[in-house]
Amino acid sequence: MTPMGSGGEPDIDGERLLRRLRELSAFGRTAEGGITRPGFSEAGRQADAFLIDQARRANLHAEVDAAGNVLFGRAAIDRTRPALLLGSHLDTVVNGGWLDGAYGVVSALEVVQVLAERHIDLDCDVVAIAFANEEGALFPQAFWGSMVAAGLLGSLPGPPADHEGRPLAPALALAGGDLDALPSAVWPPPSVRGYLELHIEQGPILDAGPERIGIVDAITGRAVLAVDLIGEAAHAGTTPLNARADALLGAAHLVIATRELAAQGLCHVASVGHLQVEPNSANTLAGHARLLVDLRDADAARLTKAEDTVRDQAGSIAARLGLGVRCRRMVRSEPAAMDAGIRRHIAGSAAALGLAARVMSSGAGHDAQIMAGITPTGMIFVPSIGGVSHVPQEDTAPADLLAGARVLLGATLRLLACPDRRNGYRP
Ligand code: GLV
Ligand code: MN
Ligand code: MN
Repeated sequence: MTPMGSGGEPDIDGERLLRRLRELSAFGRTAEGGITRPGFSEAGRQADAFLIDQARRANLHAEVDAAGNVLFGRAAIDRTRPALLLGSHLDTVVNGGWLDGAYGVVSALEVVQVLAERHIDLDCDVVAIAFANEEGALFPQAFWGSMVAAGLLGSLPGPPADHEGRPLAPALALAGGDLDALPSAVWPPPSVRGYLELHIEQGPILDAGPERIGIVDAITGRAVLAVDLIGEAAHAGTTPLNARADALLGAAHLVIATRELAAQGLCHVASVGHLQVEPNSANTLAGHARLLVDLRDADAARLTKAEDTVRDQAGSIAARLGLGVRCRRMVRSEPAAMDAGIRRHIAGSAAALGLAARVMSSGAGHDAQIMAGITPTGMIFVPSIGGVSHVPQEDTAPADLLAGARVLLGATLRLLACPDRRNGYRP
């Protein structure tokens, strides 16, 4: 495979793309074959360093901004110049898969590299971005890098810290960022001509059908609430049932209430996937339990109502069981529509490659929904084998990975060729 496609059209280097993806998957590899590479972890820094090295070897420019985002371009990044941004994230959930995020970043870098190798004249910079801490696995502010880039984290409620209370500032500094300089990482909206993100679907729809490409029309909204239930640690053998303040029992009720919220149709899906218990001992009642309640809905008002319901339920469960309770919102990302004009260009790119595509929405959160707040945004999906993601089994057929990257390249070229990008992309 060479960067030159048939007919002289620019093409991706498929071998290079797959090799980089494979090599990247070594950073944070777990015994189960998954990847644990939270934002601002050592494995995260290694992944950043690997791709920066790859870019520099290819005579591209790479730099880290104050938020810890890694930016790749032909030359030093100048945020006052018009730029088309392509990106995703390199961080993962705990024991997650090798493609969630990494696929979009490696493909974005591939597009920047092909445009440079082919000396394609641009009147608009094309910048690939690895947004920092999209998942929020360690430091709970998910979408951290894209929120800073979009100017949404101008005033932090307090010094950001991880779930154990360790401050973000030193971890961010190790990654090349600077908490005191976050405004320098904001992209002024007038410079940004659009944002494109390529991602695995992470669900079963494309895998079950004939289409290889998904064109995203909307991304679901998401809220994460941290609920602390405070009881009293006590002896499991001697404390009478009616004298207990068992925080874990309260957590169990709240897990079920969360599930019911969705089962009753008040919210599209609602889950608890994280529970911390103290002292976490077989023969001691739990004095403290922390749950992270993850809520998703395509309608912002319904999402807000679901958040309120969780707070109410937590309050009444705590009152019934003699517990203290505290609820804090850790994440809120609004549902976002993808730009109709960009969708048309993605569809054109897929059709030109002979790839069947379908329009679909995203139940997972993405940096694209943050970027959609400041610029016309589009997302391309490829199938996830078995529809699974956030687990070590996450995978996509190589042919689909290459097809998606080609659609990204084609869509980028189409957007660059659009005569009046300043006014958006006419549908
Ligand atoms: C982001 O990865 C999400 O959980 O949707
Ligand atoms: Mn993810
Ligand atoms: Mn992702």
